[in-house]
Amino acid sequence: MTVSRKTFWLIPLVLLIAAQFYQPVRTNPDLQGDVNAPGKLGLDLRRSCYDCHSNETEWSWYTNISPFSWWIVNHVEEARSHMNFSEWNTYSSSEKREFYQKILQVTDGGEMPPWYYLPLHPNANLSLETKRRIRDWVKDKTGASTPDRYR
Ligand code: HEC
Repeated sequence: MTVSRKTFWLIPLVLLIAAQFYQPVRTNPDLQGDVNAPGKLGLDLRRSCYDCHSNETEWSWYTNISPFSWWIVNHVEEARSHMNFSEWNTYSSSEKREFYQKILQVTDGGEMPPWYYLPLHPNANLSLETKRRIRDWVKDKTGASTPDRYR
């Protein structure tokens, strides 16, 4: 049997369409106490972190497109398993303390939010003001002295 060029290119297309019927489960589990960051910082974290680090993920349209959907759902599950703002009450005080410090570290170092998240979520970019708020919050929570470069 010979497969014409046209048919050949149809194969991946058909597979891609078929893949749309095979989707991962996007969950939003019940909240178990929120981190309750004060005032504007609460909004900042919601905007920049909650799609991955909370149970309040807003599943955008592109999370419905296979095969990306598999990667995204996996990624969110992983982020939640590391640190979940919606399960803050389940953490011990030493875990919380460690998270506060890590939050400062990864936002200060520009690792979070991840770069690949930003093109589709430009609002998630951390402003200097937000970084200052994070710094003040972490200082307030841990008493640790923190980098001074945002003053
Ligand atoms: C697009 C998804 C995504 C967004 C948005 C995101 N993160 Fe993450 N984050 C992850 C993933 C996945 C991991 C775990 C793997 C890794 O470290 O890269 C992680 C790891 C972390 C860790 C390390 C936790 C540990 O136990 O080591 C911290 C702290 C963190 N993120 C804070 C934040 C903060 C604060 C924001 C918002 C300013 C944020 N992240 C936004 C996906 C995300």
